[in-house]
Amino acid sequence: MTADFKSMSLAAVDQTVVGWLEQLATQAREAVTHKLTVSTKGHDARNLVTNVDRSNEEWLDQQIRTLDPGAKVVSEEGFGDHPADMSGDVWFVDPIDGTMNFVHEHTDFAIMVAWYRDGEPKLGWIIDVMAHHIFHGGPEMGVFENDQQLPKQPDVNLDQAVFALSGRHLMQADSSYQEVGRSVLAFRVLGSAGITFARILAGQLNGYYAELQPWDFAAGQVMAKTLGLEVTNVDGKPLDMLSSNAVIVTTSSAHREVITLLKS
Ligand code: 2AM
Ligand code: CA
Repeated sequence: MTADFKSMSLAAVDQTVVGWLEQLATQAREAVTHKLTVSTKGHDARNLVTNVDRSNEEWLDQQIRTLDPGAKVVSEEGFGDHPADMSGDVWFVDPIDGTMNFVHEHTDFAIMVAWYRDGEPKLGWIIDVMAHHIFHGGPEMGVFENDQQLPKQPDVNLDQAVFALSGRHLMQADSSYQEVGRSVLAFRVLGSAGITFARILAGQLNGYYAELQPWDFAAGQVMAKTLGLEVTNVDGKPLDMLSSNAVIVTTSSAHREVITLLKS
């Protein structure tokens, strides 16, 4: 099987990764109320990592390398590679996104995988673990919530948009985040990029503004763009896939307005 990744159909790759994430989600639902070993990263009491983050990432990275031996893997907890560029097949893994929610709320956390080929988005996967919902797809097959294809998102203006914002930046009184907060219909702080992207894909939220790492936005970007949403940095430019970015995700009209607002 490993020799012919290049000849696998897109649907077969999609279903393979759906199977991996459903398996990990079942284990994470078991682990969520017990079996968690929690530690902190980088002397930051708010930056948590658990045994589940580490074991999910080690297992997913290994599955990807077995499926696609030429893969370069970018992942959060240290089992990945550090590719210099986006050539070839580059995969992104967030083994638990929203670890604070995972540990403390026992809900609203996700596991995410994305696949890009030569910098082009191919497929993304976000599983909302506790809701049993998996969002998956890309430009060639459309976007699905479980087996249901999702429609393109309607355009809304900024003053009619419900946005998720970064709690960390609001807490630090970052004026650009406060300004976006004042300009939207309402804002939310969800604590998980994956859950935020999932709600945007489902049409429950209309936008997101946060500083994110590649594994936080790679899967969401594939699917949000497929549904006609803009995903850029604050200058309106494409995201750098290999470093952190201040990420804006929203409809075309709200995007024009928010980019103008952040320039002023
Ligand atoms: P994580 O749980 O995988 O670390 C809100 O905390 C969201 O931002 C989560 O998706 C979280 O992902 C991510 N996040 C937390 N700390 C971050 C940081 N220092 N830089 C970028 N993203 C971060
Ligand atoms: Ca994570």
